[in-house]
Amino acid sequence: MQISVNHLSKKFSDGHAALENVSFSVNEGEHVTILGPNGAGKSTLIKTIVGLEKPTTGSIKIGDTELNNITTKKLQQVRKRIGFVFQNLNLVQNLSVFQNVLFGTMGRTKNFLSWWPQTASRYDRELTMRYLEDVGMEHSAKKRVDQLSGGQQQRVAIAKMMMQQPDIVIADEPIASLDPQAGEEIMHLLTSLIKQNHVTMVSVLHQLEVSKKYADRLIGLKDGKMVMDTSSYDTNTQHLNELYNKSAVLV
Ligand SMILES: Nc1ncnc2c1ncn2[C@@H]1O[C@H](COP(=O)(O)OP(=O)(O)O)[C@@H](O)[C@H]1O
Ligand SMILES: [Mg+2]
Repeated sequence: MQISVNHLSKKFSDGHAALENVSFSVNEGEHVTILGPNGAGKSTLIKTIVGLEKPTTGSIKIGDTELNNITTKKLQQVRKRIGFVFQNLNLVQNLSVFQNVLFGTMGRTKNFLSWWPQTASRYDRELTMRYLEDVGMEHSAKKRVDQLSGGQQQRVAIAKMMMQQPDIVIADEPIASLDPQAGEEIMHLLTSLIKQNHVTMVSVLHQLEVSKKYADRLIGLKDGKMVMDTSSYDTNTQHLNELYNKSAVLV
């Protein structure tokens, strides 16, 4: 599913302009990473893309659907197509890994029978195990989530997100709370899963090297303005450091 952002501006009620005239599109199956210092407007951009914030001016299109003036019901349908991965994991700590991943079906069906192991369809139970295998956690299916490390929990959260079978994945700082090695493993995993399933992804990351390695394209935001939009292969270190106000000579 394609995403297009057209001349998007967002001014909060206190007058603060968090986004100014931002335009770009993300092709189906493409992974775009948004970079920029704290307060640049990255999370606001992501929230606006998924309809959690309304643009002041400009528009967002997800697939064939314009989000401007959309009904709540239509917006819910669009959201079902979008999976989220955040820094704070959305898992129930005292339940099993299997149960948590199965809860991912909540993102696509309101039939509560499908949420529980005893009443879920065989298809969903098998899918749960398949995604647990994909994230390397199949041997921990019966463990409680609170027995796992942060990196393992993020793997479970990714399997849960995949249960929703999204067309788009939004990942706002998915590895911010992990050590560098676990973070890189998670990005490797997430990228291979979305590529295998032809899913479009927009992520926000702070790790420049990881971004260059796993994203197809990098977009730089600074003070709400888009200051960079390049293929990851063409991005040079100087460009990136300028985004963060660092001297290129020092790195
Ligand atoms: N709900 C809000 N009301 C007013 N200002 C906000 C709100 N949300 C974010 N901001 C401001 O908008 C700017 C961009 O915030 P944010 O998008 O969270 O940045 P980032 O994710 O790049 O760190 C910041 O200055 C922040 O304080
Ligand atoms: Mg943010």
